Amino acid sequence: MLIIIFAWLSMFFTTLFAPPKHLWTLVTTQGFFIALFSVSWIFLQDFNFSNSLFFIDKISGPLAILTCWLFPLTMLASQSKMYLEPVNRQRAYIANNTFLQLTTLLAFTSSDLMFFFIFFEASLLPTMIIITRWGAQERRLEAGMYLAFYTMLGAVPLMVWLIKFYSTNASLMSTLTYILSISQAPTTYPGLFWATYNAAFLVKLPLYCLHLWLPKAHVEAPIAGSMTLAGTLLKLGGYGILRTSTLLQENFLNQLLPVMLITILGILATALLCLRQTDLKSLIAMSSVSHMNLVVAAALIAHSWSYSGAMAMMIAHGLTSSALFCLANTTYERTNSRTMILLRGAMLIFPLAGVWWLTIVLFNLALPPTINFAGELLIMVTIYNWSPIAFLIVALNLIFTTAYTLYVLWSTQRGPLPTHIKTLSPFQIREHLLLSLHILPALLLILKPELIF
Ligand SMILES: *[C@@H]1O[C@H](CO)[C@@H](O)[C@H](O)[C@H]1NC(C)=O
Repeated sequence: MLIIIFAWLSMFFTTLFAPPKHLWTLVTTQGFFIALFSVSWIFLQDFNFSNSLFFIDKISGPLAILTCWLFPLTMLASQSKMYLEPVNRQRAYIANNTFLQLTTLLAFTSSDLMFFFIFFEASLLPTMIIITRWGAQERRLEAGMYLAFYTMLGAVPLMVWLIKFYSTNASLMSTLTYILSISQAPTTYPGLFWATYNAAFLVKLPLYCLHLWLPKAHVEAPIAGSMTLAGTLLKLGGYGILRTSTLLQENFLNQLLPVMLITILGILATALLCLRQTDLKSLIAMSSVSHMNLVVAAALIAHSWSYSGAMAMMIAHGLTSSALFCLANTTYERTNSRTMILLRGAMLIFPLAGVWWLTIVLFNLALPPTINFAGELLIMVTIYNWSPIAFLIVALNLIFTTAYTLYVLWSTQRGPLPTHIKTLSPFQIREHLLLSLHILPALLLILKPELIF
């Protein structure tokens, strides 16, 4: 495992010393090689590896693979815009992205919960730098502030709990606590306790009501920032909840009904909110919130099926939402606008891109053979098992998801072509490659879904 970390560290040397002319080619190629190497190494361990520093199992393995896979894709996506900037800024951008990738990977794979916490928080730093330095508009500073304050505030109770847990049980190693079944002693208000210490994760996921930073961050972030944010950073929250849930013995669902209510209504509310967005990126961000709230619901139900569903959902969503941001970025790079009404009729000039839109949007909608569907189905089944009324509300979400999917397709692909976008540069092979590399893993997972359950 250290080999992989050092391999990723070697990216910094390439970033700093590569000749400016070949910077992006070298970085992207090296990224792909290291990603392939890491992915095959984790496969060879059969998702079952632990030593004193690292721990890979069925929960962290798939997420670590997702993190490794997305890094070269972010490099592939950002090069056309970044290429125009001064070389030093390009290097700083790549270095910050590598740093972000490294902290996320370390957070997913470290076996000690305190290390997890440190890297979890450390990932905030490069994210903030990327958003505030390379963001598109003035309001990126506000977005950075929101991000920092929400995350920092949520982190405090978690830190207190981790220190307390360490001082009573003398260990935070996931492997050890699991084997010796060390767990948190019963508390007076278990529901409140769960909600407080998970606040850091619920903010990161984000739970509805705590999600205000997300659309802002997404709208302001450059493409690599959006991709990593949607692809891996949100999953850190889900991973944290799943990872720490083994430290609790009881099921607190009865005391957590208010949180469950927020989650269930949040799924519906964000899907409805999507219908009212005019900004393409903030629509995709809202749809992420809707999907991630399903993960919160699954984690609250705490059943083995719902955990599998949450895992499938996170991996599938990581691939599809990142792909959606890439698509939004392809139009953004050409028209410098994210307003959907200005992007109408794209199918007339980019028919092949229309196919990508349809495919990826259908993945996002959870069309049956996809892995998104498998995740959603598992979660819905457990929700039905818990309460048929909650199930009905979540089922309504399917209708609104379809509605906003159609809204996206209609408003970006159909309709008359506005005159101002008749002279756009055609799609490059790079962009087709980028999108197919997102969809390929999602398609392969349909054939072998047991990898992430
Ligand atoms: C991130 O970017 C900042 C500002 O451009 C730069 O000073 C810093 O060195 C970068 N961080 C890393 C880890 O390279």
